[in-house]
Amino acid sequence: MLAAAGTSDPPGNVFLSVQRVYSPAGIFMTGNKRWDASLYDSKHSFVWKSGSEVIDLLSPQTGERILDLGCGTGHLSHQIALSGAEVTGLDLSQTMIDQARKSYPGLRFVVADGGRLPFAEVFDAVFSNAALHWMKEPEQVVTCIASALKRGGRFVAEFGGKGNVEAIHSALQSASKALGAPAQDFSATAERNRLYFPSIGEYAGLLEQHGLAVRSAVLFDRPTALEEGENGVRNWMEMFAGDFLAAIPQEKRPDLIRSVEDRLRPALFRDGTWFADYRRLRIVAIRE
Ligand code: BEZ
Repeated sequence: MLAAAGTSDPPGNVFLSVQRVYSPAGIFMTGNKRWDASLYDSKHSFVWKSGSEVIDLLSPQTGERILDLGCGTGHLSHQIALSGAEVTGLDLSQTMIDQARKSYPGLRFVVADGGRLPFAEVFDAVFSNAALHWMKEPEQVVTCIASALKRGGRFVAEFGGKGNVEAIHSALQSASKALGAPAQDFSATAERNRLYFPSIGEYAGLLEQHGLAVRSAVLFDRPTALEEGENGVRNWMEMFAGDFLAAIPQEKRPDLIRSVEDRLRPALFRDGTWFADYRRLRIVAIRE
């Protein structure tokens, strides 16, 4: 079934045609890299595990219709559904949705672009965890969220805010420079892969312009423990900084990784665990 724009009901298992491929796959990844859903699940479960608090904030109720925007492999959609709410999990990545459908065959999952949603006033709530920073057309996304919500419906989200992963980014920058990568190549890669990490003021303003009244907004540091001890930051780079690694000749990549680790170790490595310097924007707004 193909859902047309303006569909007023959350459709079951629709596959929306997507004109553009933007991949949510990494701050520093190429735009059309495909997600590796099993790697994401096996080594980066902290991404969805950190979403439980946001579900508490959402406080889903039995019978509510809830959109999980950027649902990835569907673990949080599943947690929301345990409350008795009727959940639609949505993600642009087909591989993520395939994995979500496999893990939770009883739930509804949709492949679609967050900036081109086909819903009109059907959801009691739109929820999103660790996904909005991948969506590079925030104004379109907010427009879609506002139209997907019923009047009085709530938008509850957490994602990277202003200053997110700055230490990792600057370590990559200085390590690339030390290995002789031209500064303009680094800037071009960074620009191509830039994610959306807004300030409270910027994002609250955007929501208000689109009829979403902000009830709370918090920007806070959430150092995030990476899995696999000593390999944590290396795994993170392999998953999320692929484009930067690819910009360096193959034989120099291990040096780049080591140099980034050396630069970050004093600030981000504690008691055998690496921590990513995540800073989150957590926001609640109501559709007027
Ligand atoms: C984040 O969740 O904040 C994030 C993930 C990958 C790359 C950059 C940031």
